[in-house]
Amino acid sequence: MLKEKFDVRIKECMDKNLELVNSDKWRNKYHIMPPIGWINDPNGLCEFNGEYHCYYQYSPLSPTGGLKFWGHTASKDLVNWEDKGVALYPDIKEDKDGVYSGSAFVKDDTIYFFYTGNVKHPGKHDYILTGREQNVILVTSKDGINFSEKKVLLRNEDFLGNMSLHVRDPKVWEENGAYYMVLGARTKDDKGCILLYKSKDLHNWEFVSVPAGKLDNMGYMWECPDTFKLGDKDVLLLSPQGIKAEGYKYNNVYQCGYVVGEFINNKKEFNHGKFVEIDRGFDFYAPQTFKDSKGRRIIIGWMGVPDAVEHKNPTIDNFWQHQLTIPRELVLRNDKIYQIPVVELEALRKGDSVKNEVLLNENPILEIFENHTFELKINFENSTEFEIEFRENCKLSFSNRVFKLELGKSGYGRDVRVVKIDLVNSLRIFSDNSSLEIFLNGGEEVFSTRIYNDAIDTTLKLKGNGIANLEIFNID
Ligand code: FRU
Repeated sequence: MLKEKFDVRIKECMDKNLELVNSDKWRNKYHIMPPIGWINDPNGLCEFNGEYHCYYQYSPLSPTGGLKFWGHTASKDLVNWEDKGVALYPDIKEDKDGVYSGSAFVKDDTIYFFYTGNVKHPGKHDYILTGREQNVILVTSKDGINFSEKKVLLRNEDFLGNMSLHVRDPKVWEENGAYYMVLGARTKDDKGCILLYKSKDLHNWEFVSVPAGKLDNMGYMWECPDTFKLGDKDVLLLSPQGIKAEGYKYNNVYQCGYVVGEFINNKKEFNHGKFVEIDRGFDFYAPQTFKDSKGRRIIIGWMGVPDAVEHKNPTIDNFWQHQLTIPRELVLRNDKIYQIPVVELEALRKGDSVKNEVLLNENPILEIFENHTFELKINFENSTEFEIEFRENCKLSFSNRVFKLELGKSGYGRDVRVVKIDLVNSLRIFSDNSSLEIFLNGGEEVFSTRIYNDAIDTTLKLKGNGIANLEIFNID
């Protein structure tokens, strides 16, 4: 059996590299990371029998990617995650070149997983119009650990004639007694789009539409679509490839964002507003959401971007690369998505917080951090501009309605990211050994980035006008 053969190879690789991985000073304290090797998209997010499950794109055999498996980690509280090993293996002919991204749908006592089986045929191919298969595959589980036989539901020939062979990343949900599936796709003439399918039984799927067709100049491929209700609106979250940079916008190699609107005409069409980037940092892509039993819409993203060659991750020397974001709750205000770290993360705070009130025009320099694992909250009073420096020249600044994140040499190629915003009245920063997630104004804008400091920097330097109220929680 292929699965056993893979297990032997993965164990050998673990025996050889696990110590190296775990001794890396850039291993994080509270983020989901690959046990060894490479991680990309979160997959199959769900809550099942009182436990949260996060599967993920996993290449255990190499820190630079390669053959994709689904790794699995689970948590009772969205804070402490326990790794459960490899969940899905590329072990049938329809997924032999990768168990690609997909989602989980919980019904009664069963989790239904829908994912893309990737196949590459040998020969001279562009792998866009020839040489590739992307199959929609169903596998079920009663415990999240043991899986049924895999069943192929849709193949490339089932998709519309103008689709290239890139059609993948199924996300499934239930609405008014029917099941829906959205897939990300690339047309033969290089336009990104989504395909919508409908089913009565989760096995047989009928094509409904190519909604959101009016999004022009939105790249050649849309990956990892996710649609859900937020308040009374429909949201489509997507990761398009091929959008050109426009000033401050779309500066990463591939983008990630959303549109808000309403499905109409039995979901044949989607009326929506403008595409908005959901994260302004260097490292955010292919997120997935799920609704938990408390009714919250929770997002977890990949803190990485494919093909981001100018942004290095030195952890590959220690046989691992990339991580996921903290879980964040999504809330819609005036058609804008706010991302709020889930409240459970407060359990990470160790000991009493340290509080400080400073006048920014006095250019205070504070010695406040013990390490790089902390949560920092800053509320500003009457500040029309400020500059904050910490973690070896990581600079956050606000002036002239522009907020900037600048990383010095610890950015390993990550330089500046910017958002236009009228006012910044608060910052909340989740800092881990090699990552920062920066929330402006209670989640109105977010910057996610990797950062690789040589040494622990315990200082915080501030400048500007007005007053800053700081609160620092150590995360042990
Ligand atoms: C997004 C993505 C998906 C694909 C998976 C493969 O990062 O390219 O479209 O299913 O990664 O690992």
